[in-house]
Amino acid sequence: MAQKICIVGTGYVGLTTGICLAFLGHEVTCVDVDQAKISALHAGDVPIYEPHLRELMALAAENLSFTTSYADGVADADVVFIAVNTPTAADGSPDLRYLRAAAQSIGETLGDRFTVVVNKSTVPIGSGNWVGAIVRDFFEATHPGTPGNFQLASNPEFLREGTAIGDTLYADRVVVGSDDPRALEVLSNVYRPILDQTFTPPAFLPRPENFGVVPLVSTDLASAELIKYAANSFLALKISYINEIAQLAERVGADIAQVALGTGLDTRIGRRFLGAGIGWGGSCFGKDTAALITTAREYKLDMPIVAAARETNQRQRELVVEKLLEELRIIKGCTIGILGLAFKPDTDDLRDAPAIDIAQRLISRGARVRLHDPVAMGRLAREFPELADCLRDEPAEVVTGADAVVLATEWAQYRQLDWKALAPLMRSPILLDGRHTLDRQRLTAAGFRYIAVAAWNPPR
Ligand code: UDX
Repeated sequence: MAQKICIVGTGYVGLTTGICLAFLGHEVTCVDVDQAKISALHAGDVPIYEPHLRELMALAAENLSFTTSYADGVADADVVFIAVNTPTAADGSPDLRYLRAAAQSIGETLGDRFTVVVNKSTVPIGSGNWVGAIVRDFFEATHPGTPGNFQLASNPEFLREGTAIGDTLYADRVVVGSDDPRALEVLSNVYRPILDQTFTPPAFLPRPENFGVVPLVSTDLASAELIKYAANSFLALKISYINEIAQLAERVGADIAQVALGTGLDTRIGRRFLGAGIGWGGSCFGKDTAALITTAREYKLDMPIVAAARETNQRQRELVVEKLLEELRIIKGCTIGILGLAFKPDTDDLRDAPAIDIAQRLISRGARVRLHDPVAMGRLAREFPELADCLRDEPAEVVTGADAVVLATEWAQYRQLDWKALAPLMRSPILLDGRHTLDRQRLTAAGFRYIAVAAWNPPR
């Protein structure tokens, strides 16, 4: 049954969730305090780069509205999802000021019908109760004498940027947590079309073959909150684990791609997230592993495995510099190209992007750096103006006259480049494949010295 849903925050998670739920038939109002974002959405523009999101928004248009007014979205909603961002503060703990502001505004604007207030933002374990207390305080202050008729729930989000819609509609699982059975019931009904796969898939995103029903994990608030951290940290440590093994593979002359395949085909391990390279970036893994460690510390617990995964991930970035030093001997004065800036393909997100970190490390050693990305250059110029001069419109401009090129993000279009034509343009045709994505034989035949960040590299 269609429900009235309000989504607070139109970032990646909020917007994708709102559009998907509207597509499934719910009546969705998205609230954001940023007038520019709301105006863009009114005009049919999606302010983030996410494949198919604009098309899905057009399909769901009649069930979707956008506003800067909390009152318009919250007052008669069955469910209010909070999907504001929770950036990392300087001490590694999440900065909850947007969450607090959202909880306050929700408290002030809640109506009298039963409403489930859902934390979708990744919040520290225990925040559900904290958000609930803020909502209640502001509700009571603005509605004297009226008992609040709402319950708190957590509904962690597992979507990945670049595949956000597929991850939502064809989820591995849906997790809902609350200490109130009625809230759990309402929330599971919101997801019913996904759980039972009763919706007609959009033409551009057919249901995967043999896709069955989606399991629901319906649990208490604290467990749902911890599931998010446990899952993301596990994925992060899977990547760091394979990167650690890749170091050894390089020393003993083993092929890490084969090692990952032979290891991951064990269904207890699984093949995914065993891609060795320059490591993880993005808004989640760094933040969530840091927050897990910080929370554990509050309970006098260490998380040595998670801490080690973070160290390994940082080391992968420095390894790029070390590899280039081995090749070039002196980096100062060299021109180094970086292809791919977004933290992964199919997004323009630069948060904690390894490419930026590597560019800065190289610049601090005196290198001249040139940068290219198929979609993230506009964002880079805005967010890292000090690097704007390094941007080049075409991969060929990055490569021409360079002493080495680093492939930092595995965009499909880089695989299709005419590498044979590019090699002669370089001062020295060294290609460091940070994602193990290009074909060594093909690149070698094209005239490159092909090296990878953690793979057996032939002696010079
Ligand atoms: C992640 C989680 O996957 C998702 O469930 C959660 O909701 C948010 O955080 P996201 O950050 O969008 O999603 O990207 P993801 O595809 O998980 O990649 C994260 C980083 O890991 C990227 O920088 C990627 O390049 C890197 N990665 C991924 C590897 O280095 N190797 C791999 O095998 C897989």
